[in-house]
Amino acid sequence: MKFDKHGILEMAKMNYDPTRPKAKNPIKIQDVSLRDGHQSIFATRGRTEDMIPVAKMMDDIGFYSIEMWGGATFDVMHRFLNEDPWERIKTLKKYMTKTPFSMLLRGQNVVGYRNYADDVVEAFVQRACDHGIDIFRVFDALNDFRNFQTVVKVIKKNKKHFQGTICYSLTEPRMGGKTYNLDYYLQKAKQLEELGADTICIKDMAGLIAPYDAYYLVKALKEQTDIPIHLHTHFTSGMGDLTLFKAIEAGVDIIDTCMAPYAYRTSHPAVEPLVISLLGTNRDSGLDINKLAEIDKEMEKVIPKYKHLLDDTKNAIIDTNVILHQTPGGMLSNLVNQLRQMDALDKLDEVYETLPRVRKQLGQVPLVTPTSQIIGIQTVNNVLFDKDGEEFSNITEQVKDLCFGLYGKTTLPIDEKVRKKALKGYPRGETPITKRPGDMLEPELPKIKKDFRGLAKNIDDEILCALYPVTGKRFLNWKYGHEDIPDDAKPKTLDNVQKEQELIQKALSGKLTTKKDKSANTRAFDVYVDGEHFNVEVADPNVRQMGIVVKKKEEIATGDNTGNLIAPIPGMIIEYKKKVGNKVKAGDTIVVLEAMKMFNNLGAPCDGVIKNIVRKAGDSVAKSDILCQIEPNK
Ligand code: CO
Repeated sequence: MKFDKHGILEMAKMNYDPTRPKAKNPIKIQDVSLRDGHQSIFATRGRTEDMIPVAKMMDDIGFYSIEMWGGATFDVMHRFLNEDPWERIKTLKKYMTKTPFSMLLRGQNVVGYRNYADDVVEAFVQRACDHGIDIFRVFDALNDFRNFQTVVKVIKKNKKHFQGTICYSLTEPRMGGKTYNLDYYLQKAKQLEELGADTICIKDMAGLIAPYDAYYLVKALKEQTDIPIHLHTHFTSGMGDLTLFKAIEAGVDIIDTCMAPYAYRTSHPAVEPLVISLLGTNRDSGLDINKLAEIDKEMEKVIPKYKHLLDDTKNAIIDTNVILHQTPGGMLSNLVNQLRQMDALDKLDEVYETLPRVRKQLGQVPLVTPTSQIIGIQTVNNVLFDKDGEEFSNITEQVKDLCFGLYGKTTLPIDEKVRKKALKGYPRGETPITKRPGDMLEPELPKIKKDFRGLAKNIDDEILCALYPVTGKRFLNWKYGHEDIPDDAKPKTLDNVQKEQELIQKALSGKLTTKKDKSANTRAFDVYVDGEHFNVEVADPNVRQMGIVVKKKEEIATGDNTGNLIAPIPGMIIEYKKKVGNKVKAGDTIVVLEAMKMFNNLGAPCDGVIKNIVRKAGDSVAKSDILCQIEPNK
């Protein structure tokens, strides 16, 4: 039976039988549940122990590859899960011996948020190869492929697979316009071919690509090159499945999907409906739907551990803002958070309006980590601080670096007036560089080896510290038993989760015994009821005696003269710039706090003398936590 005049969908025998005839051009499927899936919907909190039960089953499916590392996993594992990121590759390899392993690599940013020196980048990629990564999906936030040079050398030397990636971006609702048009993508694909890419990936991290745009883009790429084309999109806007389907009709070679329990919302289309939709066609995946369903069943067992991480504030599982503004969903929610913290939510419409202009002035860059944060935060600054027609009155450090060329070449030139203003008095110089940013950076490993001597036991530890000096050090202290592992970094059992849920329910319904028993081991967590914040402490379920302490989080006055410097947002302390006894003036930077992957300098609330430093570098702090106390000048 034929029902498509292009001969795309020739129907053959229609059954679920895994021994059904092989399709002429089967779609190849990469599963991304174990990396982008849980990164997208569970804040990357997936633990290795919860992947092991399905690892062998997934290996038996016949996926083209399994993405299980890179992106945010390296950061989150050592920071929040007390897991050595390198170990995950080795552990999963034991159960998955047939399917190639794939990782997401941010070019010269590796798995961090800035450009690292070549020696760090080379060492990282070499060790990733040694541990068992087979396919490297390499991208750069600016699509400046000079930032690929160093990693590609090492990938090729190890005879591994280099997937050259183009970040998909838009300036209007559909592909086209002056910048991100078909020509742009075809040019970029040509550059990747010249770099020796084994496959080319269109990476649509925001779920922006519309079905017909995917169709025409894939068609045009297939005409231009013989290199296999891989499409990565997210469901965020609701177009994901439609887009994959049109791309498959256009001849895309490989697509990314998730197992159903990790699919949809800001994650990816699920594999199961696609397998059925293509059944019997000449793009039939050949995958066994019954085996997939068994994996789903096994995966569902651990989902209760992660469910609290799902954003369920809205009933809709799509984000229509993404369609309206052509910007990543995560970026928009960051903007909302930032405005809320500054008590300026009423400025949201103005931010949406200003964003395209700021982006254009800063070189019309694609919006992906870290450029989405850089553009977003600068837009908020412009909306809040610009007065009397003066633009860019408060320029962030990252925007200065971008203007200097430290991230690479922007898509369009940066507005000359803005660049001049940003680089006035910039310590590296007022004339921007045009060379590869990596050429600016001195080797970093010798200093790391010296600074972490004794603590870092091998090159893997050293690389971790090079990428994440503060949290890396903290993790190694846990790993080698120099410091106690905090409760919130320990894994939970399903039993723990169930008991906690019951206790929270009790707390919410007011049926609580208030018992201040500090002797029992307690676990604290935050509960929000109608906008009120409660800190609920629950005795460790393993301890026989059950006590619950609920206290309303104290309100701490901000901006008065009590001299308390408080955290305006939750985050992690990078460093204290002052010591006890130091004299400070209002506004002097006292603490550097990392939040939303950006460094925030927190200034003294008043003139005075530092009386007490309450926390230390590496501590995670909640909003409104006191960081430092200042004795105000009388
Ligand atoms: Co993604």
